[in-house]
Amino acid sequence: MSSEEKYLSKLEQRKEVNALRSLTTVQGLADFSSNDYLGLARAVMPPYEVRSGSGGSRLLTGNYKDIEYLEQRLAEVCNAESALIFSSGYAANLGILSCLPQRGDIILYDQLVHASIRDGIRLSNASSYSFQHNDWSDLESKLQKWSGASIHVVLESVYSMDGDSLDIDEIKRLKRKYEFELIMDEAHSFGLFRDDPFQRELGSLATARVVTFGKALGCDGAAVICSKVVRDYLVNFSRPFIYSTAPSPHKVALIGYQLEQWSELNDLNVSAQTLKRQFEEALLPHYQLITGSYGNIIGLVIPGNDEVKYYSGVLKEHGFDVRPILSPTVPMGQERLRICFHTFNTEQEVKGMISLLIKLKNKEV
Ligand SMILES: Cc1ncc(COP(=O)(O)O)c(C=O)c1O
Repeated sequence: MSSEEKYLSKLEQRKEVNALRSLTTVQGLADFSSNDYLGLARAVMPPYEVRSGSGGSRLLTGNYKDIEYLEQRLAEVCNAESALIFSSGYAANLGILSCLPQRGDIILYDQLVHASIRDGIRLSNASSYSFQHNDWSDLESKLQKWSGASIHVVLESVYSMDGDSLDIDEIKRLKRKYEFELIMDEAHSFGLFRDDPFQRELGSLATARVVTFGKALGCDGAAVICSKVVRDYLVNFSRPFIYSTAPSPHKVALIGYQLEQWSELNDLNVSAQTLKRQFEEALLPHYQLITGSYGNIIGLVIPGNDEVKYYSGVLKEHGFDVRPILSPTVPMGQERLRICFHTFNTEQEVKGMISLLIKLKNKEV
C-alpha cells in the first residue's frame, strides 16, 4: 500500500466511526467554547484591525478565515495543492515526522539535518537511519537495503551549518529508480528565488515540504506544503498541530503582509549572492570554505574552539557580527565562522571583512 493509500485508509477509518476532524470557522455565535477566558484575545491593537489571539487550537475555536486564506496563498506561491500553517519550523518538523512515517516504515535522513527534524524523528514509530551528509551512494545503498519497505527520505534544501545544498539531479535520479517519500525542509532556501529550483525540480516529487518564515521572510512561523490528502491527514493525526493554540491573527497578518512585500521585491537575493561570490573568490586561496550554490551561507573553517572564538572576537572589535560555530555542534577540527550574506550588506563591509580575515591569517592583527 502506498503512503497516500495508508493516509486515505486511516482517514476513512476515522470517518467510519464519525471521528474525522476538519477545520471549520464560525461567526456570530455566543462564544462558550474558546479559551479566551478574559476576552483579551478580542482586543485589537490600534491601528491594526486584527484580533490579538486565536483563542484556541485550530480544530476548536482557533480556526479563522485569514489563516485559511494565507494557506491558500502559500499553496499558490509554492505551486502546490495545499498548505498547513504551524507556529514554527520546529513545530512543523515535529508535526510531519511524528505522524507521516508509520510503524514498520523506514526513515533515512541526512546526518546533518536540523535538530527539529531529529526531534520529530524521535517522536515517530518508524525505524530511522542516517546517511552520510550529501552522500548519494550511501543513501542509495540504504534505499537498496530497505527496498520493499515504505521509506521516507528526509533532506534539507540548504544545510544551515554548512551552507551547502542537496543535489537536485541525484534526488531526481534516485526518485526514478526507487520508491520513497521525499520530505524536504526548505527553511534556508524558501523565498530566495522567484523561480525556486527546489520547487521547480522537486516540488511535485515531495510528499511534504517545510517552508519557514523566520528566515528570508523576516518574521516567524512555518507551513507544510503538501497535497490535500496529506493536509487532511495532518489535521487528523499531527499532534503538534492538533494540541497547540493556533497562531494569532496578528502573526498571520504579519506573515501575509511579508509575503506580499516579498512578491513585489525586484531583485530578491541578487546582491547578497554577488557579495557571497566576491567573498568566496577572495578568501578561497587563504581558507577552507564550506558552501553551496543555492544558499547565502559560507562556513569559514578555523579549527579549534579557542581559535574560532578568537577570530569572532577580533571581527566583533572591528564592527562585524560573525558567530563562531563550535564543536560538538560541528565535528572537531571543522569549527567555523558562519557568515550569512544579506541584501542589506554592503560591498564596503564585505571588503573590510575580507582584508581583516587575510590579516588574521597572516597574524598581522
Ligand atoms: C533547517 C531548519 N529547519 C527548521 C528550523 C526551525 O525553524 P523555526 O525557527 O521556525 O522553528 C530551522 C531554524 O533554525 C532550520 O534551520
